[in-house]
Amino acid sequence: MKHLLSTGDLTRDDAIRILDTAAQMAATQSREIKKLPTLRGRTVVNLFFEDSTRTRTSFHMAAKGLGASVLNWTHTGSSVSKGETLLDTARNIEATGPVAIVMRHRSSGAPHLVAKHVKCAVINAGDGTHEHPSQALLDAFTLRQRWGALDGRTVLIVGDVLHSRVARSNLHCLKALGARVVMCGPPTLMPPGLESLGAEVTHNLDAALPHADAVMCLRIQLERQGQAFLPSTREYARLFGLNVAREERMKAGAVVMHPGPINRGVELAPSVADGDRSVILEQVSNGVAVRRAILEVCTA
Ligand code: NCD
Repeated sequence: MKHLLSTGDLTRDDAIRILDTAAQMAATQSREIKKLPTLRGRTVVNLFFEDSTRTRTSFHMAAKGLGASVLNWTHTGSSVSKGETLLDTARNIEATGPVAIVMRHRSSGAPHLVAKHVKCAVINAGDGTHEHPSQALLDAFTLRQRWGALDGRTVLIVGDVLHSRVARSNLHCLKALGARVVMCGPPTLMPPGLESLGAEVTHNLDAALPHADAVMCLRIQLERQGQAFLPSTREYARLFGLNVAREERMKAGAVVMHPGPINRGVELAPSVADGDRSVILEQVSNGVAVRRAILEVCTA
């Protein structure tokens, strides 16, 4: 595998190879010497045209953990403000000789375009409302750690599916790994065609909740909403927010997930986000091992 652009391109075997490699990477964290020399003397560029906390930090740590040097490029302070095109920026960055470009962009398809024009590996760290494959893989890793395998498990994805690259990548990845995926949200925030991609769709959270092994809450992406998709966030929280009363109706052992950043009190009550079922910080920790595995597999 040279690039990681979409989980839609991954077979079950590809996904399992990355997840197995990530398990080996996670095991190195209990050793005295945690770094591996795989990318020693090489450079990984984080090319982020959009803000990020978890993804950029963990790709940085993942590359460092493989012995690489890391260049963290952000659009602010760059020649993007002078009108440089995406391809010119990417080609100029590539001319400095990185082994991989990890890229986030507000336009869907931007990493796919760059991958066609550069020789190094391109890893999609989130493109517009399209895909976020490394997030889906770290989510699958977190569930696999709990369950061993995902076959036959039900994952309920709740919220702003329309604008969520996390939801799309998770749908492909979870289906490839044998899980049942149920998507739930207000009709205005559910894109058409989810069923044809293998999801079940419902607008009734309370009916779906007791059947889920994992509930993945999505952030309401107010920055991507040009028009009014919701009467108010308070109304959204009442109908689709995971609050304490709803958490009590979840299956024994079922977990609560969120890719972050959380709108506390909107899609997730603070006490649920920080409660016993929450694996949200495990997701973040696992991100480093999974992104190490992705870098290793894509640069092998
Ligand atoms: C997500 C993203 O940027 O797509 N966050 C992340 O990478 N952990 C989800 C979001 O912004 O809501």
